[in-house]
Amino acid sequence: MKVTVVGAGNVGATCADVIAHKELANEVVLVDIKENFAEGKSLDIWQTAPINMYDTRMTGSTNDYSKTANSDVVVITSGLPRKPGMSRDDLISTNAGIVKSVTENIIKHSPKAIIIIVSNPLDVMTYCAYLTAKIDSKRVFGMAGILDTARYRAFLAEALNCSPKDIQAVLMGGHGDTMVPLPRYTTVGGIPVTELISKEKLDAIIDRTKKGGGEIVNLLGTSAWYAPGAAAAQMVEAIVRDQKRIFPVCALLNGEYGLKNIYLGVPVKLGKNGIEEIIELKLNKEEKELLDASAKSVKEVMDVLDNMHVVAK
Ligand code: NAI
Ligand code: 2OP
Repeated sequence: MKVTVVGAGNVGATCADVIAHKELANEVVLVDIKENFAEGKSLDIWQTAPINMYDTRMTGSTNDYSKTANSDVVVITSGLPRKPGMSRDDLISTNAGIVKSVTENIIKHSPKAIIIIVSNPLDVMTYCAYLTAKIDSKRVFGMAGILDTARYRAFLAEALNCSPKDIQAVLMGGHGDTMVPLPRYTTVGGIPVTELISKEKLDAIIDRTKKGGGEIVNLLGTSAWYAPGAAAAQMVEAIVRDQKRIFPVCALLNGEYGLKNIYLGVPVKLGKNGIEEIIELKLNKEEKELLDASAKSVKEVMDVLDNMHVVAK
């Protein structure tokens, strides 16, 4: 297996490190536009191999996509991150140009690759990569749901003083303040979370989850990377090991949940073919309304991208 990670910054380097550490591929290629940056990061990661006991080979490349040829999976993290006061949507024009040119290069050298987008604004950058790649949408999707769900699970584990391993949950919708946590589908060791925590406390955790990205931006002056990098690597793992795992993933909807031609977070089955199934939950009226509101706000930003004519439809 060969995996390419584009963008050797905070998220990309973390993702590559986790992939190598877990031996998810024989070779990981790290690409960045900044001269020698990916080479330096991959050399550093490779020097952890004798300590962490793995033999995945690391290759760094300054924008030379011939080194990425025939990758099985590609993770795109290139682009600007948020700074305090910025929303993810503020990044659209710069990051759309970056995601488009990177996707063109990737498809040219790895036409069969499965592509995972991480760059923000996530839902719209995934749509941008899909329009550029012109491949089946089952092979172009975005990472956000695993991260958002992990934040929700981590906050719940703290509040309940229990292991995060025992918390199962799913979040849907766009990667932004309109994301839709689903308490009805949240369990702790099989027990519905609503039996273990008051509505007040749960609502506060849901609110903190929705603002979880911004909380870290305010603390660090840039956005998170450990959890996002690990989350993208978990998607790579499900694909290269054909695990058929059920994760919330930003996927193109074609009628599921009554929505069409929109990239949105929904539960899917991930395996060697990419998205092998989109799972349709039976949402109640309130949940469906929240999902529709989230879809509306993602669609507005998709329309902004369409009107910028960065990518031909
Ligand atoms: P960073 O600034 O640390 O790294 C980005 C890297 O992309 C830089 O090294 C830069 O040189 C590189 N780059 C820029 N243009 C490029 C091009 N054309 N080709 C190759 N490389 C290029 O940023 P960080 O923190 O790693 O975040 C990356 C992106 O991921 C941001 O857009 C951020 O908002 C997003 N993000 C998304 C998350 C999600 O849940 N989907 C979570 C965290 C971050
Ligand atoms: C996050 O949620 C900023 O999307 C990034 O951390």
